[in-house]
Amino acid sequence: MSAPGSSRAGSARAGGSQRSDIAMFHVMDVLAASAARRAAGLEVVSLAAGQPSTPAPAPVLRAVRSALATDVLGYTESAGIAPLRTAIAGHYRTRYGLEVDPADVVVTTGSSGAFTLIFLAAFDVGDRVAMARPGYPAYRNSLRALGCEVVELDCGAATGFVPTVEMLDALDSPPAGLIVASPANPTGTVITPHDLAALATWCADHGTLLISDEIYHGIEYAGPTSCAWATSRESVVMGSVSKYFSMTGWRLGWMLVPQRYRRGVERLTANLTICPPAVSQAAAVAAFDPESIAECDSHVERYAANRAVLLDGLATLGVTDIAPPDGAFYVYADIGDVTDDSLSWCARVLADTGVAMAPGADFDTRSGNRTVRLSFAGTTAEIERGLELLTPVFETSRLHAG
Ligand SMILES: Cc1ncc(COP(=O)(O)O)c(C=O)c1O
Repeated sequence: MSAPGSSRAGSARAGGSQRSDIAMFHVMDVLAASAARRAAGLEVVSLAAGQPSTPAPAPVLRAVRSALATDVLGYTESAGIAPLRTAIAGHYRTRYGLEVDPADVVVTTGSSGAFTLIFLAAFDVGDRVAMARPGYPAYRNSLRALGCEVVELDCGAATGFVPTVEMLDALDSPPAGLIVASPANPTGTVITPHDLAALATWCADHGTLLISDEIYHGIEYAGPTSCAWATSRESVVMGSVSKYFSMTGWRLGWMLVPQRYRRGVERLTANLTICPPAVSQAAAVAAFDPESIAECDSHVERYAANRAVLLDGLATLGVTDIAPPDGAFYVYADIGDVTDDSLSWCARVLADTGVAMAPGADFDTRSGNRTVRLSFAGTTAEIERGLELLTPVFETSRLHAG
């Protein structure tokens, strides 16, 4: 006779849990294939990675050296060290004119860690959570791992690739949560301050938790972004040192958390990870110094130059059907005239030429087979080299498609 639960245990042994049976974050596979190529001594031109090619700002590097020399760097408070929470709160005052209390700030292991925490703290199994399609795949995949139902809002050219109040009104009932990102990944599109305020108000009126992913703030080309807390302190605001601050691998993010979720978030983070990395926290305090901000702004100037080079080059290749890249460092392009299978097309182009791109299938479960995301976070020379290598690829692919 088998023990109770043994068939479940058997299936777990065979292939892992059902909850782990989620889609892969395909960009990570592209990064692994790129690393393997590099290790084999082959050229890789990375237009895939959603990360800066620069180190952390100089004051952060000085701060980490000093911390290594003088601090124990043991566990910290679960919600983060007081000087960092104070520095982050001050950042909202300086950048947005918003009064944020350090107690509103929870420091996390990347904003990725913040998403897991707030999903667990705010949603139960079966809750419906809405997000844009195309959108950042990790929201969708982690929500599914946690048993939530993902409601994908079709965000195409007609609505500037961003969710609207009209889309929410058209749902059968208000969802438990809505995630918006501005600037967004993969599209780089920005929700105007007016539209973000309208979404925040709708959510507050309908009992929907708005989670506003603002981790690309500071990387903007067409006007300012706004913070959801300017409208509703019932929303959750996500931040990170990964993108603007050029610190992806330091794994540090934060969120502004409404009072009612704070204790739950604290209980979860204490049990799940104890605290975010101490060494990164000690260093990140210096990320908000004026000297760091000036260094980060100089990166944004380079992204702006890269963006122009990439858009020009793509136009020459006949790739013009793209989402408005008003922020972040991505171009999301429709290349349906050369492929209807972006996953294998990207793998083939990487193997044949060394140009790494992110397949649209990652971001859009419906039409992503005909799209790619190109990152312009690298050097200008890299963008130029990528375009050079892609020219014959597009010519040949069109010949075959035609
Ligand atoms: C829109 C968006 N949100 C969140 C993340 C997670 O970033 P991190 O965990 O490094 O803060 C990313 C990473 O690419 C992203 O593009």
